[in-house]
Amino acid sequence: MAEDFDVPLDETTIYHADASCCAEAMFHDYTTAYSEFLRDPDGFWNNIASDLQWFAPWDTVLDWKFPFARWFVNAKLNITHNCLDRHVSNHRRNKVAVYWRGEGGRERILTYDHLYNDVMQFANGLKSLGVSRGDRVCIYMPTVPEQVVAMLACARIGAIHSLVFAGYGAAALNQRITGAQAKVVITADASVRRGKSIPLKPIVEEALIHAPTVEHVIVLRTQSPPVSLLPETEIDYYELMDASPKGCPPEEMDAEDPLFILYTSGTTGAPKGIVHTCGGYMVGAYYTCKYILNITDNDVYWCTADPGWITGHTYGIYGPLLVGATIFMTEITPDYPDPGIWWKLIEEYGINIFYTAPTAIRMFMKVGEEWPDKYDLSSLRILASVGEPLNPEAFVWFYEHIGKNRCPIVDTWWQTETGMHMVTTLVGEPMKPGYAGKAIPGVVADVVDREGRPVPPGQGGFLAIREPWPAMMRTIYNDEERYRKYWKNGEKPYYTTSDLAVRDHDGYIMILGRSDDLIIVSGHNIGSAEVESALVSHHAVAEAAAIGKPDPLKGNIVKVFVILREGFEPSDKLTHDLKYHVRQTLGPISVPAELDYVTALPKTRSGKIMRRVLRAQELGMDPGDISTLEE
Ligand code: PRX
Repeated sequence: MAEDFDVPLDETTIYHADASCCAEAMFHDYTTAYSEFLRDPDGFWNNIASDLQWFAPWDTVLDWKFPFARWFVNAKLNITHNCLDRHVSNHRRNKVAVYWRGEGGRERILTYDHLYNDVMQFANGLKSLGVSRGDRVCIYMPTVPEQVVAMLACARIGAIHSLVFAGYGAAALNQRITGAQAKVVITADASVRRGKSIPLKPIVEEALIHAPTVEHVIVLRTQSPPVSLLPETEIDYYELMDASPKGCPPEEMDAEDPLFILYTSGTTGAPKGIVHTCGGYMVGAYYTCKYILNITDNDVYWCTADPGWITGHTYGIYGPLLVGATIFMTEITPDYPDPGIWWKLIEEYGINIFYTAPTAIRMFMKVGEEWPDKYDLSSLRILASVGEPLNPEAFVWFYEHIGKNRCPIVDTWWQTETGMHMVTTLVGEPMKPGYAGKAIPGVVADVVDREGRPVPPGQGGFLAIREPWPAMMRTIYNDEERYRKYWKNGEKPYYTTSDLAVRDHDGYIMILGRSDDLIIVSGHNIGSAEVESALVSHHAVAEAAAIGKPDPLKGNIVKVFVILREGFEPSDKLTHDLKYHVRQTLGPISVPAELDYVTALPKTRSGKIMRRVLRAQELGMDPGDISTLEE
């Protein structure tokens, strides 16, 4: 990575959303809110946390012993009490909690009371299988209401859920199940995608071959005739639930007890099990849904992320339920049966807040505004984006054609590790296309050089977070050393995000991309090391290197360079086989779009592949310092 690079700060048109869309904004203005936070950070978080219900209060807001933080020390709570009981016991009992739409017009509606009862009954089902506080439960399911019930049921009894996106392949699933030492796996027979049903259970069966900790598999059966189950280990989702008693009091959790583990790809080695805790995560999710996404009681809110990703956790489920919102969720992809389907759903359900990803916006741009123009989108009040930089062209298109020059766009920068939004533009503040915005009140962000010194506006650097925040990850499951690496203790300590950024003269932050070997494809993190090891596990491959290559639609695509073993020759058939092998191992999202056969790879003298050199070569750029390159 080049250091000390200047970034030309072009003139930016500043956008102002219509006041009618910003009327519900919780902060009066950024400067006042931010200075109030800086004046008394503990007081700031204390006030927010006090909106929620706790079984016992905290002794101190924050106990910070670099790099380990404890938030809301000694407080007791259960997040499901705040997501469910708190609403059911007041005016939200019969409010719609979840609208779900399946393909072919199938619909399910769950009120808060309905969700509450299902969660408790399923929680009792988990208990009957011997699941208790602290046990890990892996959830590998499509986007259906039962997935939400399964997550909340774990949280109800203090079991730690670990969701795995249902697009992952068997090897990736196995790695995540064994990494978390899961006792139970909850899955479905199949998921539905673009009119086809895609079997999930065979993937689970393969993933369980070497997963000795798993005692039971709970299967949601949706197909006819129903798939058969192994009597000793497999059990039907609804048979388990129906055989269980109703009513299940929430387990009293310590604020610092883990709530969930979520695996995210790293640049090297196995994926990282990011650990989030009950108290701080709850406060961060609640705060940002209320103050950043600005969800109010009358809103119907749609976050398009799958619950298998962090966005689905914080902004698909926990956060909106904490604020008592009506959530819309769907298994429907943006292009099936046609690219108007999402706009049709916005019209039908009167969606007010729509949170999606730049890759989807760019896909919609490509197919043209005639699709959204067919539908009435006037219910929309706020638009939001996450996962990768929202490039200015996509911002402007989203603003004009979806928001109709009225709605604010909240471009939220954050990570699986941060648990909650960190940098964005508050509703009602001036928006600059291409810039995510400023650190939100509660967060201290900086752009720094390699030594951790702040760099001036217009100079590129690393995005850093200076102070702990409640929803920060507490550790990496079974790998404290890897956690410690995120925090640097220079003159002033800081959390390293591994993102490159630049700040303008008004303090707005533009995210420029990753500084490491993580490849972000359509907003999903792909570790170059994972793709390489999947390729090397094929008998024809001696060595492989994976890089991200910019792509106008997906942000990046995966490109790989492969050295074949003796006796194998490049061919279209082999290329197809290798891509298929990656698909089977890691899942469709990690499949390389481009594959080149090479006879050598650029390496350091110690044998590390210099992906930076490959990337520069691919893009026709200067490779930078190559003094460590092997002859
Ligand atoms: O590179 C940044 C990019 O996504 C990374 C985090 O990925 P993940 O942990 O999967 O979480 C994604 C959802 C929060 C970041 O390090 N990223 C995320 N949001 C943005 C972004 N890049 C630019 N702008 C964003 N709004």
